[in-house]
Amino acid sequence: MPSTSVIGMVWGDEAKARVVDIFAEKTDIVVRYQGGSNAGHTVIVGDEKFVFHLVPSGVLRPGKLCVIGNGVVVDPELLIEEVEGLEARGIEVYKQLVISDRAHMVMPYHKVLDAATENSLGSGKVGTTLRGIGPCYRDKAGRSGIRAAQLVDPDSLRVLLARNLEHVNKLLTRIYDREPLEFEPMYEKLCKLGRKMKPLLKDTVQLLNDALKNGKRVLFEGAQGCMLDIDFGTYPYLTSSNTTAGGICTGSGVPPKMVGEITGVLKAYATRVGEGPFPTEVFGPAGDEIREKGAEYGATTGRPRRCGWLDGVVARYAATVNGVDNLAITKLDVLSGQKAVKVCVAYEHDGTRYDTVPGDYRALEACKPVYEELPGWCEDISAARRLSELPRAAQDYLDYLERLVGARIGLVSVGSERDQVIHV
Ligand code: IMP
Repeated sequence: MPSTSVIGMVWGDEAKARVVDIFAEKTDIVVRYQGGSNAGHTVIVGDEKFVFHLVPSGVLRPGKLCVIGNGVVVDPELLIEEVEGLEARGIEVYKQLVISDRAHMVMPYHKVLDAATENSLGSGKVGTTLRGIGPCYRDKAGRSGIRAAQLVDPDSLRVLLARNLEHVNKLLTRIYDREPLEFEPMYEKLCKLGRKMKPLLKDTVQLLNDALKNGKRVLFEGAQGCMLDIDFGTYPYLTSSNTTAGGICTGSGVPPKMVGEITGVLKAYATRVGEGPFPTEVFGPAGDEIREKGAEYGATTGRPRRCGWLDGVVARYAATVNGVDNLAITKLDVLSGQKAVKVCVAYEHDGTRYDTVPGDYRALEACKPVYEELPGWCEDISAARRLSELPRAAQDYLDYLERLVGARIGLVSVGSERDQVIHV
């Protein structure tokens, strides 16, 4: 099967971009299929650090075609800023990138509405990235969105923007007690961005299906993770797209039978940004230690990430929902120095043990983790390039994870550099 996919198994920030960057070397095309600039995909090459929000991480491999599929919500302003920033660093993005003409555009009013909605929710807020993601997907589902093909057509844009802004301004002034937004400056700015984006637009559905028929290797790059999926995550504390494997088809136009091997990326410990249940969260100095060692700060918002132990119940659930074939275990080096490593194997509530993730977030909030404790290791493992070079306790931890999740490990990362990887 010519296509492979890299998918986050928990709450995002599993270091998927690192895995995509490695796989992209042996791929022809890299595709983003959901999410938007809420994602922050970091790749370190030598002394240089690249953070991608919309452009697929595969762009760092010269000559690879990068596709932003129809399921992605694209903020044209941030896209052009990202493309021009990368061009200035010598990456030929304009030559490597194509964008689906069906992709929905994040409009300036989506970001204003994101902030207004969060503000009005008070303590019940989701803790979004404020990148306009939820309001944009809401308009997509409500059939009032503006797609790329319309952004680059000034006549269409004028009609749709005027219609939408009239409605948005009523919401802003009457519901959220905010100032209305002006049409003309927004329209002018969007037209300018549309002119820059126009050469990048393509029918990517046809392009991807033709490529697969012609034997090209396609890699799907997931954003966020299973527990932030709009259907399978901790609703309503999640993002607004299908982050799980099903999103590949709806977000790219590639049929399910063409989706091949799925690599689930699982960090050696757990993190979460934003609000919502997190049974294995560790508070106080122990959590702070993981955050500092793992540099767990949001790549998009800079927010400190909540940190904790790996949740095996969530990992099993993600393996099931995504049909994970292989695991990529990331940031194993961050656990070096822990006397013992804990893994949550079940939940407990009111004397009952649960082995699966409950559908109601309130039930998950009420659950206490049931841990198994494994011996830790103190050695620096960042120079290991084979499993046999890892301390026995680290090898045992990996074996344990394979058995717990029910999938084989294909790759382990032991540092942030490109070569700090163990291929199994
Ligand atoms: P939104 O996607 O900006 O609407 O945010 C909804 C929730 O998803 C919030 O809890 C965010 O912190 C979280 N989220 C969105 N994108 C990411 C990501 O790339 N990594 C981790 N969390 C994310």
